[in-house]
Amino acid sequence: MQEILLLSGPNLDLLGTRSPEIYGSATLEEHVRAARDRAEHSGLSLRHLQSNFEGDLIEAVHAARNVSSAIIINAGALTHSSWALSDALAIFSGPKIEVHLSNPAAREPFRHVSTLAGVVNGSLAGLGALGYPLAVDAVVALLAQR
Ligand code: DQA
Repeated sequence: MQEILLLSGPNLDLLGTRSPEIYGSATLEEHVRAARDRAEHSGLSLRHLQSNFEGDLIEAVHAARNVSSAIIINAGALTHSSWALSDALAIFSGPKIEVHLSNPAAREPFRHVSTLAGVVNGSLAGLGALGYPLAVDAVVALLAQR
């Protein structure tokens, strides 16, 4: 069975209580469940890792080579600063989708840059909880094209 690796970056472990007016009231666990349900519906498994540490996420991307078929990532604020995570993702050859609950382009200027945008197949932002299952749909479609 093909596996999707879902990666969650810093502070996303606090979803549900963290700025619900921006990120909604769903917990990370609920987003992961929605993504996993959608993946399993399409015959894929989904593995999730959340970390507040950049290096953990980079090592997870390295380890995903030859193990996971695709990566979905919400890197939190590392999206706007981590060229190292961007470089790691560039090495992963499977489909990659960037997800954001909020729409960073409509927020503070520092959120307008994504170091990941240039190395992923596509980005979903501003769709709230819809973003996770839609990212799975995108991965399923991209894998079918291979
Ligand atoms: C976020 C947007 C980022 O700018 C922010 O730092 C986050 C969450 C989102 O899902 O909307 O931590 O990635």
